[in-house]
Amino acid sequence: MDAIDILVNEHRHIERIMELLEHAVAHGRGGGNVFPVLFERVAHFLLTFVDGSHDAKEGEVFQAITARGMPLGEGVLAGLSAQHEVGRELAGELREAARAVARGEKESEELYALAERYVRLHRGHTEAEEARFFPMVRRLLPVDVMEQVRARFARIEASHGSLAEAANALELAFPLSSTAMRRAGGPRPLPWAGK
Ligand SMILES: [Fe+2]
Ligand SMILES: [Fe+2]
Repeated sequence: MDAIDILVNEHRHIERIMELLEHAVAHGRGGGNVFPVLFERVAHFLLTFVDGSHDAKEGEVFQAITARGMPLGEGVLAGLSAQHEVGRELAGELREAARAVARGEKESEELYALAERYVRLHRGHTEAEEARFFPMVRRLLPVDVMEQVRARFARIEASHGSLAEAANALELAFPLSSTAMRRAGGPRPLPWAGK
């Protein structure tokens, strides 16, 4: 598994959380009871594991490209970095909105709209990385540099913990998708209990 494989693998785990968000929004808008704590926990995941770990790893890739003076990547890197920043801001807003809804100071719909914006941003961003950026990285970075990048990933992972395990824990706490329900030992009645 090289550095890019690790990032692609993390995308699949993050996608599980995007699905969880979508299910929660659909259920809430359909009149179901969705606890704001679900969104607060997801926002924590987005800030700690997506921004703090996954995007930080991609930052190492950006640096490796920049360090080799590859102008080809500049526009692409600036675009992806800007999206990381927007993602971080949206995740922060999602956390604040979840707390405000829990205090009865905001309507749930504000939370749903923010969650949808995050999911849309994340999916477009991931597609751009996998279709255009990652293949470019593989072409441009020699094997030894890719190895160095992977070693830096390990350091980030050591300080944050595993993104995959954090995604598992979230799915188990809020088993909305069929995969998560199987892992949790069968379907639970809705509405989901907040934990
Ligand atoms: Fe990214
Ligand atoms: Fe990514």
